[in-house]
Amino acid sequence: MRRGAIVRITLIGIVVAAICTLVAVLIPWLPDSASKQMDRIEFIYWFATVISIAIFALVAAVLLYSVFAFRSPPEDESDGPSIHGHTGLEIAWTIVPAILVIAIGVMSAVVLSQNGNAGTNPMTIKVFAQQFAWRFTYPGENNLKSNKLVMPLNRNITFDFESADVIHSFWIPAMGQKQDVVPGINTSIVVTPTRTGNFTLICTELCGLGHATMRAPVSVVSQVDFDKWVQEQQQGSSSGGGSGQTVFASAGCGSCHTFKPANSTGKIGPDLDNIAADAKKAGEDPAAYVKESIVDPNKVIASGYQAGVMPGNFGQTLSSQEIDSLVKFVSEGSQ
Ligand code: CUA
Repeated sequence: MRRGAIVRITLIGIVVAAICTLVAVLIPWLPDSASKQMDRIEFIYWFATVISIAIFALVAAVLLYSVFAFRSPPEDESDGPSIHGHTGLEIAWTIVPAILVIAIGVMSAVVLSQNGNAGTNPMTIKVFAQQFAWRFTYPGENNLKSNKLVMPLNRNITFDFESADVIHSFWIPAMGQKQDVVPGINTSIVVTPTRTGNFTLICTELCGLGHATMRAPVSVVSQVDFDKWVQEQQQGSSSGGGSGQTVFASAGCGSCHTFKPANSTGKIGPDLDNIAADAKKAGEDPAAYVKESIVDPNKVIASGYQAGVMPGNFGQTLSSQEIDSLVKFVSEGSQ
């Protein structure tokens, strides 16, 4: 009788565990790993998942068995037997979970420490976050600036974060690591890309109306291609790469504004293709109106839009040359 019960509980447990395992394995819950750090995070994920499936299968098996084995016939109104604890069982269900939770905690601490280790000679990339765009600076490459994140393969990369305004959060899903970007605090993480390809950096901290558009393209390339890219960028910037169009893209204007010359279709702020008409309405010269809207966006609010949405700090985060070329690009492109 007792042996029969154990056999049945074991069989139910195996069926439950098999179903859970199929759900865990057949559904792609995580993106394909593209970094060493993500490999370690996946290991913790599976470590905890295997433990969870085993415990769940055990509990479900005992529960399902009991529901059928100990059910009372419909006419039975009598009380069940009164049972007082079971010391052995209580010790077991205290010690086993304690060991499992400690094991998960220790493994996580080891992975956290490994993932925070930049090793010797890491490459640093400075990340500047601003409503609603990401900008990257490569201090090892003459402070090369880019609005696309390009990383060499298999290199430990330390990201140093700075926010101009509110809390943003840096996350490339396939690379696992995630870090809040907090104004006034210098945060950083390490990423070691293990696969070439194109990825997306997304902001995962609600940071304002344009939060959902705060994304940046990421590309992982071989060291040779990376060096080539750096060279191209440096040549580009010495031959007038700081054009209004470049500033428009790198400052993230397009995520909020529609503007045909930049092929942008943002809907959060006013349509810049109508800027000449808007300037006329405000009684200003288009260039002066555009400049004022960039450095002091709350002075004149276009009808149908709210104050305080357009970041008010572009006057500080862009250089005066950048602002001038941006003003030229926007005011001339709209005519
Ligand atoms: Cu930046 Cu959400």
